Amino acid sequence: MNEPKRILLGVSGGIAVYKSAELVRLLRKQGMEVRVAMTAAAAKFVTPLTFQALSGNAVHCDLLDAESENAMDHISFARWADLMIIAPATANLIAKLSHGLADDLLTTLYLAATCRVYVAPAMNQAMWSKPVTQENIAALRRHGVHLIGPAQGEQACGETGFGRMSEPQEICAALLTVSSGLCLQGLKVLISAGPTREPLDPVRYITNRSSGKMGYALAEAARNAGATVTLVSGPTQLPSPEQIDLVRVETAAEMYDAVITRAENHHVYIGAAAVADYTPVEVRPEKIKKQDEQTTLALHKTKDILAEVASLRVRPFTVGFAAETTDLEAYALDKLARKNLDMIAANWVGQAQGGFDSEQNALEVFWKGGRETLAMTGKNRLAELLIGLIAEILKAKV
Ligand code: C5P
Repeated sequence: MNEPKRILLGVSGGIAVYKSAELVRLLRKQGMEVRVAMTAAAAKFVTPLTFQALSGNAVHCDLLDAESENAMDHISFARWADLMIIAPATANLIAKLSHGLADDLLTTLYLAATCRVYVAPAMNQAMWSKPVTQENIAALRRHGVHLIGPAQGEQACGETGFGRMSEPQEICAALLTVSSGLCLQGLKVLISAGPTREPLDPVRYITNRSSGKMGYALAEAARNAGATVTLVSGPTQLPSPEQIDLVRVETAAEMYDAVITRAENHHVYIGAAAVADYTPVEVRPEKIKKQDEQTTLALHKTKDILAEVASLRVRPFTVGFAAETTDLEAYALDKLARKNLDMIAANWVGQAQGGFDSEQNALEVFWKGGRETLAMTGKNRLAELLIGLIAEILKAKV
């Protein structure tokens, strides 16, 4: 993705408006052209003149202003931008955006925009944690909006908690790194992929239909996003990806060792492997002979790699997968809580629904306080979207 050059900054009315003035200065320092649209309330905190002086462009406040409509109507204005950032975004503005209201210039520009949109919320901690605000935020995420912050700390009202607008330097850095595609720059990502093979005797084993494609696509997407990637892979037919440290394993026990010994040294762990849940109690040294009409295999449970990583003292941001044939959401949420994960990506498997051994997939992603649907698409694109989402949630946690 090319670096954005033309930034449309939307400013709504909160005390954090003064920080957005600094944001304009930082963006211009990066060589970007900035145009500003303010709500009427924002203009009461800091005058449009301040933003005009800092951006070097006329500031727009009214939807039906004959003068500015002549110079640049709201549709052309929205299309002009490579990227739109709304900072600060008040609870009221977020509510309006999430419901598609367009009763002033800023909300209309948001609806007309076809570029990436970022929102930096700013509000009192109680307003931020209200379920209705959280529902509106979840809706914005579903609509493809990228969140920056909010941060935690002391607020203008004297209270402490989540809701403070992120600092202008952080917003500027987030716009640059996420937009340039390097959203995991400097981070170490560990991914497990593919099936495992549980031997019964020298010639037979128990395995599953996992192709490893999703895990490999995630490894490549993470590498492309700037991360240093280690891929622990069960047996697959896939070529070794370039610039990725590939550790080949066969059994669930080998995968456990390979992951556990590396996990503490990584910032993110994505458990995309289809690990055998059970393994034979005994591996027979000779080929098992055909004898009786019926036979029984004694199996014991394997260790849950994902849950063990999530319970490490120094744990990476831990992402699991849930492949389900029924009750997708309930099972995914249960795993998220029971295995103490940071995020879980759930998908339907079986009956031509993508998933195992297919080129396409769709994911329902859940994390504490949010969910997002990643619609059916090729596994490479899906991997990019999931990596982008992991980077966003990870940044919001810091
Ligand atoms: O509980 P379930 O096996 O459905 O959970 C799936 C998730 O747990 C996947 O992310 C898978 O990689 C991981 N898992 C694991 N070790 C196991 C079994 C599953 O890491 N033994």
